[in-house]
Amino acid sequence: MSGGMAGGRTTRSWRLRGPATVAGALRVPGDKSISHRALLLGAMAHGTTEIHGLLQGEDCRATLAALRALGVEVAEQTDGTVQVRGRGPEALREPECVLDAGNSGTTLRLLAGLLAGRPFCSLLTGDESLRRRPMRRIVEPLRVMGATLIGRAQGGFPPLAIQGGALRGIAWSSPVASAQVKSAILLAGLQAAGDTSVTEPVVSRDHTERMLGAFGLVPQRDGTTVTVPGGSRLTATDLAVPGDLSSAAFLLVGAAARGGGEICIQDVGVNPTRTGLLDVLERMGAEVRRERLRLAAGEPVADLVVCGRQLRGVRVGADLIPRLIDEVPALAVAAALADGETVISGAGELRVKEVDRLAAVAEELGRMGVVISPTQDSLRIQGGAKLQGAVVSSRGDHRMAMSLAVAALFAEGETVIRDVACVDTSFPGFARLLAAAAPACAIREETADA
Ligand code: S3P
Repeated sequence: MSGGMAGGRTTRSWRLRGPATVAGALRVPGDKSISHRALLLGAMAHGTTEIHGLLQGEDCRATLAALRALGVEVAEQTDGTVQVRGRGPEALREPECVLDAGNSGTTLRLLAGLLAGRPFCSLLTGDESLRRRPMRRIVEPLRVMGATLIGRAQGGFPPLAIQGGALRGIAWSSPVASAQVKSAILLAGLQAAGDTSVTEPVVSRDHTERMLGAFGLVPQRDGTTVTVPGGSRLTATDLAVPGDLSSAAFLLVGAAARGGGEICIQDVGVNPTRTGLLDVLERMGAEVRRERLRLAAGEPVADLVVCGRQLRGVRVGADLIPRLIDEVPALAVAAALADGETVISGAGELRVKEVDRLAAVAEELGRMGVVISPTQDSLRIQGGAKLQGAVVSSRGDHRMAMSLAVAALFAEGETVIRDVACVDTSFPGFARLLAAAAPACAIREETADA
């Protein structure tokens, strides 16, 4: 998303130069997935849920604004604490306006699940990128449960119109391992008659299941199937949101891919359904340590220490993809700097993220000198790249912008990354943090008329 200015649109760019080492001890903002769920489950629960460390990125602000439009009272304290005054799903009221999820797939899909159970009409839309993302994966199960959903291309794309109502529980087998799909169905299932279960090909991130436990309802798990009972009452709770491993990933790769590099990122979520990148970096030869490992509201949290080495190329197969789905662009940078070839396969879901990430990674890193070839669902990356500074673009994708910034730390000369305002969706303050952790890159933000 580009920031507006009186009289016209502006775009923001970063200018930075390599080589620059990443080092130090730092914290990253709150986990995006956990923040969305804290707001949504807080709104569905009874009582006041107090959330500490909620991500203040645009994606979570979109969820918060939608809940307010549905009549939920949310108080924001000056210290960042957020209180959601839940009165159960029955207290939600028909929104008077279209709910705008902005760039956030999680907002739109999870809200659709919640609203499928409410006996009123809701209209959901998003920005240009979100309006191109597939919705049939949630529309179909929610229709089978009894809700009416209409969207462009027979329910394929937003905007979506939802007339919710009395739902019946289902046993759904999802062809994709997607936490957004699973969570949408579970949020609907909580309001349905009877049990609802979701089976996935591989277990996707399980934050919804863990957080339901904190709200007093422990879902039943059997292999890749999770089940919730309908009509259960959630009880408000206090939650501390850990740092987002997907945000830490950029700095971790920055440290891991250089011999002698070392970084400590404090209070990061290390849920095993999210830590695929850490496993792969270890297999590539980096040292990864989890210090002060503890549990917070059912989520494992640690201080992560990563020491860099000359990395070696690896094979990353389909089974691992759900555990590092958002980290593939950052991993591609590490692979380009490793010895030998890396192949990442079974990653077709990356084609339907904020942008087509397989194409974007291949073309933009290609401009910096990386030899990288995509197929329909894979990336083959030649290691040993001699990265060159270049003019590249995020294409409006936050994770592309930050991955390119990490690549720039290893490049000779200056890199300009266009269209970086999107970073505010998940990691406000990234450039400031990078300036502190890698001062030699002298990152500068520039604004220009579009
Ligand atoms: C998310 C799930 C993942 C991930 C996204 C956040 C979530 O998407 O890519 O950034 O919070 O549930 P999918 O479930 O569609 O793979």
